[in-house]
Amino acid sequence: MSLLDQIVARAKSNKQRIVLPEAEEERTLKAADKVLADDIAELILIGNPANIKTLAAGWGLKNIDKATIIDPLNNPKAEEYALKLAELRQKKGMTIEKARELVTKNNLYLGCMIIKTDGADGQISGALSTTGDTLRPALQIIKCAPGITCVSGAMLIISKQEQYGENGVVVMGDVAVTPVPDADQLAQIAYCTAQTSKSIAGFAEPRVAMLSFSTWGSASHEVVDKVVEATKLAQERYPDLHVDGELQADAALVPSVGAKKAPGSPIAGKANVLVVPNLEVGNIGYKLVQRLGGAMAVGPILQGIARPVNDLSRGCSVDDIYYMVAITACQAQDAK
Ligand code: ACO
Repeated sequence: MSLLDQIVARAKSNKQRIVLPEAEEERTLKAADKVLADDIAELILIGNPANIKTLAAGWGLKNIDKATIIDPLNNPKAEEYALKLAELRQKKGMTIEKARELVTKNNLYLGCMIIKTDGADGQISGALSTTGDTLRPALQIIKCAPGITCVSGAMLIISKQEQYGENGVVVMGDVAVTPVPDADQLAQIAYCTAQTSKSIAGFAEPRVAMLSFSTWGSASHEVVDKVVEATKLAQERYPDLHVDGELQADAALVPSVGAKKAPGSPIAGKANVLVVPNLEVGNIGYKLVQRLGGAMAVGPILQGIARPVNDLSRGCSVDDIYYMVAITACQAQDAK
């Protein structure tokens, strides 16, 4: 069974309630139909019910009736959500008027309020919205998981080069959220990416390489110092985490190079989790591996939020959304 099929099977085994706040968007509604047909999750669709039904009929979608549809403009719980949102964000200057506007006119905020009040377990958007717009309500309302202050995003890289990582699968972070993490944030990204590798990629033993352009002191620069410091912090803070750094990507992945550049390292040559020093490296790096290397890139899978909220690329396909529902459901199972 492929990794994606395993994720779908796990989602099915303990169904979670997932919000799709961009339900009137074509790929999203088609993916919703497929999720409902395969019984992977319970879905809450936010949008105009009449529009959703007309669109579903026009596209021949037969399963949309199984979803709960919430009309943001005619929502009996709108005032409850507005009051709660105003209370949550009072110190940040949120007025009740602004909160009412957000829960009726911004489906992403409404979805996060549904999760916050235990009406759902996770949310996915991004077919229409930017990453920032998807993230902001999650960061403001749902907030970070216990012990975490830095949200990040991991990418599953599924390569045909089966000699690397875990039979060709590596998990890479942060590729999506924090532009310039400091050492403390980088240590958290290492921990969260390792957790995602266990929870979603099914790695029994994450082996984390803290990547740099230097291996074990071969170069010196303040950006290398940050990775060294982050490695130390991660080792101290998470004693069960198998982590080493700073390592170059080849030293992390290729046994012969690892043995030469970092002899005796427990990670060099066998890393399956790659932590990059900043978002530019992560985002550019995974796209190069995907486009030039022909690897499949699944994600970003947002990590470190108290309940899962995931982002899609605006160029996503129906299948991307379908699998992201399954991934979000697996994260929701683990968040309980
Ligand atoms: N972790 C946890 N909380 C955070 C983080 C973070 N990384 N960043 C911001 N926050 C919190 C802030 O503390 C703040 O909380 P508060 O209002 O309760 O005090 C709230 O989120 C909003 O923070 P701002 O700094 O006002 O938010 P901002 O508008 O600057 O946006 C965001 C934060 C959206 C994460 C921004 O850093 C961003 O856009 N990052 C890049 C996203 C991106 O474009 N990624 C690339 C594309 S994805 C891809 O290609 C796979």
